[in-house]
Amino acid sequence: MKKINLAVVGATGMVGRTFLKVLEERQLPIENFYVMASSRSAGSTLTFNGKEYVVEELTEHSFDKPIDIALFSAGGGTSEKFAPIAAAHGCIVIDNSSQWRMDPTVPLIVPEVNPEDISWHKNIIANPNCSTIQAMVALKPLDDKYKIKRVVYSTYQAVSGAGVAGWKDLENGLKGEEPQKFPHAIAGNCLPHIDSFLDNGYTKEEMKMVNETRKILHNDDMRVTATTVRVPVFNSHSESINIEFEKPFVLDELIETLKNAPGVVLQNNSAANEYPLAVDAAGKDDVFIGRIRRDESVESGVNIWVVADNIRKGAATNAVQIAETIIKNMQ
Ligand code: A2P
Repeated sequence: MKKINLAVVGATGMVGRTFLKVLEERQLPIENFYVMASSRSAGSTLTFNGKEYVVEELTEHSFDKPIDIALFSAGGGTSEKFAPIAAAHGCIVIDNSSQWRMDPTVPLIVPEVNPEDISWHKNIIANPNCSTIQAMVALKPLDDKYKIKRVVYSTYQAVSGAGVAGWKDLENGLKGEEPQKFPHAIAGNCLPHIDSFLDNGYTKEEMKMVNETRKILHNDDMRVTATTVRVPVFNSHSESINIEFEKPFVLDELIETLKNAPGVVLQNNSAANEYPLAVDAAGKDDVFIGRIRRDESVESGVNIWVVADNIRKGAATNAVQIAETIIKNMQ
């Protein structure tokens, strides 16, 4: 297998460190490896595959050397400035920020869902929002079979989605300290506020879910709405998803469809108290689905409960899976 040169940008962050872990676990064929971050952590070291790597400061010259793929997770501003520089040098950027996701020239990819869209990239590929990724893995097989008419998302999102600072707010909040990252205490609380508010009253996080769902499922007219909530959970996002279909369905067949879907693990035995839980999903790469029941208020609808590790499948693992697909296509 061809070996590639790979860089991780934002390597010292929550997602960045998980990139390193997932790349090690999945044994990507890497020749030269680079870790980059801001001047704050330049010179520090990170261990990858048993070897120490010195963190480089990300600059306009970082991509002068040959790098085939760069995994970016260093915020939207950094991606806005540096992804085009990397792309112009022939490097394929897989970007975890929201900066490029809705750009019509940038594919937005969940490998189990729309791998075919990778083919039209122009050296920047976007990794979807963490809440969107796990929802797509659940929705795609149902859309293929029953044609989705409308989706209502209600999310219960972990503090790790807000980076190291979010994690610390919960840790310190449990000891009675004031929040630094969130506008209110997260310990013992639920905040119906993720990312900033928009003129339409929704948050950016909510509109990301709406717009990204339509782009990934190739349906600009799909009716989608969302309420996204930060909850005092360290890791893994949970989502209640209400779905209405064009076509009728048999519940057992729908459950079987989800069971056989790529990337899905079914935990759907309520009688035995078996349903997806954030603490169980943490550290895993699958999307866990349960509490599957007919929505009795509409003609053809279902409610499902979907849980995944937002730092792994919701960010790092999904990006590494995109890289794996690209490497496979290079052979
Ligand atoms: P640094 O550690 O040097 O600040 P998180 O969101 O988990 O806190 O991680 C953010 C990541 O993005 C970190 O690796 C951080 O590096 C990196 N980062 C933030 N701003 C920049 C920047 N201007 N240039 C390069 N990397 C950046």
